Amino acid sequence: GLLEDFENAKIPVWEGETMSDERYLTFALGKGRLAKQTLKTLEKSGITCEEMKDPATRKLIFVNEEMKMRFFLAKGPDVPTYVEYGAADIGIVGEDTILEEARNIYEVLDLGFGKCRMCVCGPEKSRELLQHHELIRVASKYPRIAKDYFYNKKYQTVEIIKLNGSIELAPIVGLSEVIVDIVETGSTLRENGLQVLEEVCPLSARMVVNQVSMKMENERITALIQKLKEVLAEEEVQKKQEG
Ligand code: PRP
Repeated sequence: GLLEDFENAKIPVWEGETMSDERYLTFALGKGRLAKQTLKTLEKSGITCEEMKDPATRKLIFVNEEMKMRFFLAKGPDVPTYVEYGAADIGIVGEDTILEEARNIYEVLDLGFGKCRMCVCGPEKSRELLQHHELIRVASKYPRIAKDYFYNKKYQTVEIIKLNGSIELAPIVGLSEVIVDIVETGSTLRENGLQVLEEVCPLSARMVVNQVSMKMENERITALIQKLKEVLAEEEVQKKQEG
C-alpha cells in the first residue's frame, strides 16, 4: 500500500545536500546510441542542459538550476538500478535493458526513438533446429530475455551462453547455433551471412520512474510526461507531413 511505500522510501540524499522543499528531479540517461536523441527530445520539451553538450567535459553530473533538475549519463544497464534505488527519479534507456534488468520501476512512456527488434538470429541451417525444439546453444548479451523467450514462450530447453558484445561471432565460430540480439538495420547480420530466424519483441527507448518518486513528485513527473507526449505527437504530425 501507499503508506508502506512511504515508510520504506529510502530516497538517497546526495552528498552535500539536505532534504529541502524544492528537491532536484534527477535523470539517469543511458550513454551510447540513445544519448543524442534523448537530449534532443528533452530539449524539445524545454529541458535544457547546456553544459552536458560539451563533448570535452569529463564531468559526470550536470545541473539546470532554474528547473531544479540534474542529469547524469550512466551505462545503459545501470540506469534501471539508479532508478530502482531512487538515486535517480527518472531514467531513459532502451526497452531491451529494462527487460533484461527486471528492476522494480515504473515504465511510463515509449519515446518512439531507437526503434529496433530483439530477434533470434543465425545461419539459415539453424532454422530447423528451432522448429524441432532441439537442445541448442543460444549466445546473447541478454540471457534473461533469451531464457524467457525459449522457456516461457516456446517451451524449448536451450543452453544459454552469456556474451558481452559482437554476439554475431558466436554462430560463425561455432560457439552457438543461434543468438538472441538486437537487429536495427540488419546490416551486421547481412555482412556476416546470418538471418533473422524469429522475432522476440520490438524495442525502443523508454522513460522509467522510481516508484516512490512517482508518488512524492507526482505533479512534476506527470507534467513532464504530458509535455513529452505532446512533443512526440508533434513529431508524428511532422513526419506525416514530410511524407
Ligand atoms: C548492436 C547489436 C548488433 C547491431 C545491430 O551491437 O548487438 O550487433 O548493433 O545493428 P544493425 O542491425 O543496424 O547492424 P552494438 O553495435 O551495440 O555492439 P555490440 O554487439 O558490441 O553490443
